[in-house]
Amino acid sequence: MSEHYEENRVPLDTVLQGDCRELLKTLPDKSVDLVFADPPYNLQLRGELWRPNLTHVDAVTDAWDKFDSFIEYDRFTREWLFECRRVLKDTGTLWVIGSYHNIYRVGSIIQDLGYWILNDVTWVKSNPMPNFRGTRFCNAHETLLWVKKSEKQTKYTFNYQSLKAGNEDLQMRSDWHIPLCTGDERLKLNGEKAHNTQKPEALLHRIIRACTNPGDVILDPFFGTGTTGAVAKKMGRNWVGIEREEVYAKLAADRITMVVPPLVPDADLPAPLDKPKTKIPFVALLEHGLMQAGDELKLARTNHVAIVQEDGTIVCMNLRGSIHKVGSLCLNKPSCNGWDHWLYQHKQTGEYLPIDNLREPIRKAMATPLNADEPRTQSVVRERKRVRQAIRE
Ligand SMILES: C[S@@+](CC[C@H](N)C(=O)[O-])C[C@H]1O[C@@H](n2cnc3c(N)ncnc32)[C@H](O)[C@@H]1O
Repeated sequence: MSEHYEENRVPLDTVLQGDCRELLKTLPDKSVDLVFADPPYNLQLRGELWRPNLTHVDAVTDAWDKFDSFIEYDRFTREWLFECRRVLKDTGTLWVIGSYHNIYRVGSIIQDLGYWILNDVTWVKSNPMPNFRGTRFCNAHETLLWVKKSEKQTKYTFNYQSLKAGNEDLQMRSDWHIPLCTGDERLKLNGEKAHNTQKPEALLHRIIRACTNPGDVILDPFFGTGTTGAVAKKMGRNWVGIEREEVYAKLAADRITMVVPPLVPDADLPAPLDKPKTKIPFVALLEHGLMQAGDELKLARTNHVAIVQEDGTIVCMNLRGSIHKVGSLCLNKPSCNGWDHWLYQHKQTGEYLPIDNLREPIRKAMATPLNADEPRTQSVVRERKRVRQAIRE
């Protein structure tokens, strides 16, 4: 936990205690990769709530969740969301979780500030609290909004392939079935639950896995018990938490100290599934003998034929340039991905295929480690166990 830190630098792996509207202003522009925010819900609960067996229901009635009016709540929401957008990198995204009490107001402010919604995810609670009065449906879900900084933002981390592989090769959906935080995971203070709205680690695990890579920086402006920081550390990410209440800030810092970070992934393991593809320029096809000067390329769905030149340019109808430039001029379009539109004739089958297919063997050769026959997985697993054991001792 830190009260003194250098302004204009992201204080990594630190809990900052105070009001996030003030503290966010001290963080530099475009400095974090992901924001996860679990703001006050502004629950409009009226009166005490009792179970049928006359035990008291421990609902969220904390001072930090109270606002005098919707206007006040909206002003508060606008302030922190504005600052989060400023501190997010241009490749970053933001998640915010809420219930029907606040998520519609938050969503509308998000859009007003220029953010662009990518998904709304429903967290279906497999063990929700019943509606004791029997006057409404049992409220069994919360909503998460996943947003980018603007409509125009083209790059952001979404580990689509590894999420799918981890989900038994099925595309991940926007309905997430995860139980409430209970049992040993629930932090206790003097035998009572320490915080009313501690989120399950499984929820954060999924978000962090989907939207960050090891070494990225995750900011949580409403840190509570530090669930975001604990999971970030477990997954080898950096984190920054802001929490107004001293008791929670301390609890979070102590919780995270006990977390064992993972070992750095072994360089010899196969690359992660969503690793950006190595850039291979067109001329590399000539360098590797996969194509040669004088070869013909056909432009898909047209009669245009281009001739490949030794320097990696192509010539078609007296136009000379890159596969992209000549493609866009022939098609009379502002842009053209030449890798997909120019076709080569397969030597054996005679079939016309996109030239992009020819890049794969080069990528494969570049990615194959020298000792590829030696599987390293077992020794990595053994080494991890040894380090964990050593840290515990
Ligand atoms: C919904 S809880 C977050 C719980 C957290 N996700 C967890 O798993 O423990 C919201 C937290 O924000 C804190 N908070 C409320 N207003 C704040 C503010 N203006 N600045 C910083 N923290 C604030 C509250 O004290 C509370 O701990």
